[in-house]
Amino acid sequence: MRLVLLGPPGAGKGTQAARLVERFDIPQISTGDILRDHVQDGTRLGIKARSYMDRGEYVPDALVVQMVMGRLGEPDAEKGFILDGFPRTVPQAEALERALADVDRPLSCVLQYDIPDDMAVRRLSNRWTCPTCKRTYNLEFKPPAREGVCDFDDTPLERRSDDDELTVRRRLAVYREQTAPLQRFYSARGLLCVIDAQSKEDVVTERTLAVLADCS
Ligand code: AP5
Repeated sequence: MRLVLLGPPGAGKGTQAARLVERFDIPQISTGDILRDHVQDGTRLGIKARSYMDRGEYVPDALVVQMVMGRLGEPDAEKGFILDGFPRTVPQAEALERALADVDRPLSCVLQYDIPDDMAVRRLSNRWTCPTCKRTYNLEFKPPAREGVCDFDDTPLERRSDDDELTVRRRLAVYREQTAPLQRFYSARGLLCVIDAQSKEDVVTERTLAVLADCS
């Protein structure tokens, strides 16, 4: 199965992707996580990416496309993948489409998770993340068992630097300008499935699995 997860910041792409990894045993490829690792490691890519990410803007297409194509070439992606946060622009979608056509492995489905802006702000202002295993928690909806530490590896949880309200509002605006056009792009190819993501995580997962049952 080769999936793309679309949706505004806070829609739950990462949360649902982690569940799909367990269910289908295919890797989650999160461009946000990969870029944050580069920033943390101080690589050349990370140094370039950081200023865009801190402002809530997108990292330039050429940098992200090259990074994702390298990752898709790794052995674990041969059996399928879940792209979380890529593509986000029409040029990125076109580059992905060309690359997959070259190896005759088209996308199975594009899942579009939708929530209203105020819900995105509320979710993200309560999000805490484990820097080791990348699991996310939410003080309001999914708190860790022990305050401030990851349930799985005891690592102290962190807040993302782009989760303050002003930056989240900017990310939502950038999403509307640059990523919303992908709905038409994928709808025209018969790949788009829209999922209401306002409900509890389990309910959203049930909706996702129902959609995937119909996709090749
Ligand atoms: P990225 O890390 O991809 O951020 P994003 O797309 O803004 O998405 P988020 O990770 O904030 O939200 P999510 O939908 O995954 O929600 P989550 O599951 O965590 O990208 C960050 C930056 O990197 C970009 O701004 C850009 O600069 C750069 N970048 C990345 N990809 C790029 C690309 N392709 N091109 C250019 N630049 C790129 O859930 C959020 C919270 O809600 C959590 O606390 C969770 O516990 C909670 N939650 C989830 N589901 C539910 C639910 N159903 N009910 C209640 N709470 C829920």
